[in-house]
Amino acid sequence: MCGIIGAIRSDGGVLNALIEGLRVVEYRGYDSAGVAVIDGGQILVRKKQGRLENLEKVLEDGALEQAPVGIGHTRWATHGEPSDRNSHPHQGAAGRVAIVHNGIFENYLELREQLTAQGITFVSETDSEVMAQLIDLELQEGISLENAVRRSLRRVEGYYALGAIAEGPDGAELVCARKGPPLLVASTPDAAYLASDVLGVIPHTDRVVYLEDGDVAILKPGSIQVTDFEGHPVQREVAKVDWTPGDTGLGGWPHYMLKEIHEQPDVLARTALDRIDLERGDVNIEGGQFSDEFLQGVSRVQVLACGTALHAGMIAKYLIEGLAKVPVDVDYASEFRYRGPILVPGTMALAISQSGETADTLGAARLAKELGASVAAICNVTGSTQMREADQVLLTHAGPEIGVASTKAFTAQVAAAVLLAVRMGRANGNLSVQEAKELLAGLRDLRTKMEHLLSEPVREHIRALAKVHARAKGFFFLGRGVNFPVALEGALKLKEISYMHAEGYAAGEMKHGPIALIDPGMTIVSINAPGHVADKVRSNIEQVKSRGGVALSVGSHEGSHKIAGQCIEVPETIEWLSPILNTIPLQLFSYYIADLRGCDIDKPRNLAKSVTVE
Ligand code: F6R
Repeated sequence: MCGIIGAIRSDGGVLNALIEGLRVVEYRGYDSAGVAVIDGGQILVRKKQGRLENLEKVLEDGALEQAPVGIGHTRWATHGEPSDRNSHPHQGAAGRVAIVHNGIFENYLELREQLTAQGITFVSETDSEVMAQLIDLELQEGISLENAVRRSLRRVEGYYALGAIAEGPDGAELVCARKGPPLLVASTPDAAYLASDVLGVIPHTDRVVYLEDGDVAILKPGSIQVTDFEGHPVQREVAKVDWTPGDTGLGGWPHYMLKEIHEQPDVLARTALDRIDLERGDVNIEGGQFSDEFLQGVSRVQVLACGTALHAGMIAKYLIEGLAKVPVDVDYASEFRYRGPILVPGTMALAISQSGETADTLGAARLAKELGASVAAICNVTGSTQMREADQVLLTHAGPEIGVASTKAFTAQVAAAVLLAVRMGRANGNLSVQEAKELLAGLRDLRTKMEHLLSEPVREHIRALAKVHARAKGFFFLGRGVNFPVALEGALKLKEISYMHAEGYAAGEMKHGPIALIDPGMTIVSINAPGHVADKVRSNIEQVKSRGGVALSVGSHEGSHKIAGQCIEVPETIEWLSPILNTIPLQLFSYYIADLRGCDIDKPRNLAKSVTVE
């Protein structure tokens, strides 16, 4: 989704920092890019539809290179088609200001009408341009940019991360403001930066300030002043960023997705190992969070998440109900918000989000809080809104996930769900020390099993199968029990990056309708692990095979492999832990199919990495 970057430097030359910053946030998905700088008192804007390379071409004349202040933006169209005209930055009619904006100004049509009646001509179809026009008019009064921004923001309804530049009496000014979408600021001795994503500033510093809703920040080289909406200074904590610029490189891999799939054994180790206490058969979570006292008061869990994170949440339901015997409801965050949910006392809402910035998940968690729930989060980004708003957080340590299709964040979320389920079961006494020890030892041992799945012979086998199935008419992914959400995830991964039609189904549900679609053009991928539903999955495979479907069995259940004929063998583990292993071949299968079909794997069409609008 849209990315914002801004910089001011005492020695000039911010253009490189802007382009570098935009390149780093490219992964979020966008359809146009632009920059605006002030040089010699003049605002200069360049913007282009399409990839960053298009923008870089128009910058080749070097006209913007020496500028000491500027803002940049990657746009993911919401209001108005992707085009040069609708790209950010936007300027006011008198050219006094340039702005970049993420979010939505909900009353923009009304404001647009008012401004048009005042004789302002709009050049774009965006909601964002109204803000440029409003600030431009305020600046006519000779007030500072920060005050012009504050006054203009009073007139809008909606959500924003906003960056603005204008020439003031003492030179170029850079101001930003936040309500809703993420925004952070950072300074070095001779510069200051703003960005919508921490990756945008880590090439310059590892100390950042995450702005809160209602903050307006004034950036100068070497200093940042954060104020509230009325202009009173406010103190915000400086946070240290654990990620380094090296974490964001391809490191020789052809795609981020493949790199991130291969990082999973390390991610599992970082997320789980230090928290496992095998001696006590329990889990240690930092800062005394998820304490016995708290968890003993939890009578119900409400999972809130979207997409891949929702699939991790569905697995969490099986785990928490199975191990801790606490009932769990799972909702799409986008549905929860508008269905008038009823939460019982003692509900712990569990928001699961890689980015911690997904608008639907944040909105659902806020509603759960209003309804009296405590909010816990499984989240991957330190300092993200979700993390800061939750009462308790279980951080996954997946590192930056750049590939749009989520891989390592998913298995880290499932590992975190195992830890949470064990902690809950130990806290409420429903899980014995012995059972907990077995599970935690099993979790610890997954690392080497994951490494095996990523070894060359296994990868080559999966690649060969991908070749066989790359032209299938469609796919069903089938699973039951704790591997049912794995089937959903396998189908989601395939459709996202290869654009092939794939559906995930509870294997037992096929006979109630979808089986009508089975014919020799369809590939049926079944996911199975030895356990109480394994034989049932096997007979579901028989049902589809006998109707002509081509079956591919993934997992560690011999019987299923035999019936299917084609298989990907996964090392055996405890059934509860099998989703972590079973997911990996499905990720590779999707990756190789997408690669064979020549798809843009890391930036699939129409998708954004972090969906910060509803
Ligand atoms: C799929 C994918 C999305 C995200 C979803 C939630 O590969 O990445 O479905 O899982 O948009 O994002 P987060 O986890 O950031 O809340």
